Amino acid sequence: MAKGMTHRGSTFRSSEQTPQIFLQKQQGWGRSSALKTRQQLKWAVYICAILFCLQALLESVDAKPVLASSLGFCKKVPVLKGAPLHCCLPSPKRKPIRFRSPRIPRTLTGRLILRERKPAHVLQRDPKYVRKYNLAYARMKALPDTDPRSFLNQWRVHCSFCNEAFKQRKTPGPLGPETGVPLQVHYSWTFLPWHRMYLYYHERILASLINDPTFALPFWNWDNQLDQDAAMIPAMFLSNFSVPNAALFDEFRNSNHFPPKILHLGYNSKLEAEGKQNLTNQQIRYENLCVMYNQVVTKISARDFLGGPYVVGTDNSAATVNASAGEVPGESGGMENAHNVAHEWTGLINDPNHPDNEDMGNFIYAARDPIFYSHHSNVDRLWDVWKTIPDKVTKSGSRKRMDYTSRDFLDSEFTFYDENQDMVIVKVRDSLDSSKLGYKFTDVSKSDKMWINYEPLPPHQSPKKSNSSDYPAAAPSGYNYIGTDPVSFRLDRRAPTKEIARQRGVKNVDQLQENVVLEKVKIPHSEYARFDVFINYPAANRQTHLYMSEYVGTFTHLPSGMVDMSKSVSESSSKSEKFRIVTIRYCVNAALRRLGITDYNTDIIVTIVSKGARNSSPKTGFTFTNLKQDFQ
Ligand code: C2O
Repeated sequence: MAKGMTHRGSTFRSSEQTPQIFLQKQQGWGRSSALKTRQQLKWAVYICAILFCLQALLESVDAKPVLASSLGFCKKVPVLKGAPLHCCLPSPKRKPIRFRSPRIPRTLTGRLILRERKPAHVLQRDPKYVRKYNLAYARMKALPDTDPRSFLNQWRVHCSFCNEAFKQRKTPGPLGPETGVPLQVHYSWTFLPWHRMYLYYHERILASLINDPTFALPFWNWDNQLDQDAAMIPAMFLSNFSVPNAALFDEFRNSNHFPPKILHLGYNSKLEAEGKQNLTNQQIRYENLCVMYNQVVTKISARDFLGGPYVVGTDNSAATVNASAGEVPGESGGMENAHNVAHEWTGLINDPNHPDNEDMGNFIYAARDPIFYSHHSNVDRLWDVWKTIPDKVTKSGSRKRMDYTSRDFLDSEFTFYDENQDMVIVKVRDSLDSSKLGYKFTDVSKSDKMWINYEPLPPHQSPKKSNSSDYPAAAPSGYNYIGTDPVSFRLDRRAPTKEIARQRGVKNVDQLQENVVLEKVKIPHSEYARFDVFINYPAANRQTHLYMSEYVGTFTHLPSGMVDMSKSVSESSSKSEKFRIVTIRYCVNAALRRLGITDYNTDIIVTIVSKGARNSSPKTGFTFTNLKQDFQ
């Protein structure tokens, strides 16, 4: 972009100068030279026009990627209990460098030798690996605070980039001028790429600390419902393990969820606190498959899976969204929303002494727990898996899953510290192919297939068929409320047009995914929220199983102490409360098919089941501006 701008500048300058030079020189010239010059002028005009068009084209595709570094402004991050946290990072000792693809060793026949990230539940049976893994963290934890590779500083990377300690920048490079807008890498398309590069450097640092370039992080294979222990907190992170593992241990985890409990993606801390979440292991596994199916498989477009755009100026922690100024609300993708549940389930939730749900249950603290990196290793893996899943969702059955291709996405820029303590400037485009980063994941496709090919139970047979006209439509751009009781709305549907298909970059309307979109849900930073959505099942409630045909997906918001807690709870609705404005997208093609709805004339009933705000009175709820149909 900077290049393009200088280009236009110089073009204008030459076109301004040309006529004057031309006039001055023309006086003494003969006829033929005047003609020649006229021709030259014509050419100059053509070239100018072409350059101008090129520039305009470039600008139309190249808006404003988010640019960020950990230098310059950095504010402390407030928490609910205790003093605000200092998450800022040390300055680099040398000039920041640009990312360069690592040299990857090859076999004699030229095949790449990739480091292999293996499932944690398998690796923990290998004492040699656990010793190495523990040693790497022990050494990382022993590094001084001034060293950007230290465990404390590794935690800070997450705490700062994920909790708005920094500001976005106006121009590329780590020292470009700052905009006034805080930086947040969750709730958008930056979620997967940023965390991938964060883990990449984290892994490189661990590897260098034990002088083992082949070292790779494990992945906590919590989506795996095939192996008994895969979805449990891996024992190697817990005390009383057979091999010394002190450096992998963290005291702030929910002991109610220790093995043999398995991670429940339908988990709701509120229901659990009320003693109403009593599912059998088999039911939990079905719900897990169903959540994975709805959060990964049905998400066919980049927007559905990776999340919404995040460009300079986007402030998803603002209390209002000024759409006319180009601001967009936060929009987490399906993967991010599923991943949030694992955070919630692992951290200290429902513990009055720990209102911040440390460690995993709050993004501010999450990276203090070594299990965080193993959890994200699985999230990273699922991004790779997603790209390989056959369509099975759209009418065409032929759509490829692809990352965004826009330059706003590809040129988004962040900084990390590498194993040599150098600050590296990384672009999203550097992150898209894990093999180019030198690693791969153990193939666990047998268990992946369980959720990829998941079939929910048949639709409920409601005694009296619900009539969509019995329900109100949401007030467009107005005030809509989700309380602790489920709410149902009628959603008027229409067929997608060719124009929409064109805008979305697909060949025809049959390649589109139909979305139900909850627009601009307003959630206080300090609140927990979970919304599960059902189609044509208004009887759905907080205890309805998620492995039913009518269920179409979930959204979870983790509370984070981004509010000044010197204010009491009753005051928290005052101006000092910070909100997150998020748009939530549910994918409904597959569900509609299961429910026998094959046309676009049939309106549907959308039931939003809020799993309740923490510490809430019955009246506590959330507002949103609209419920609408969209296509991706
Ligand atoms: Cu930045 Cu799992 O979080």
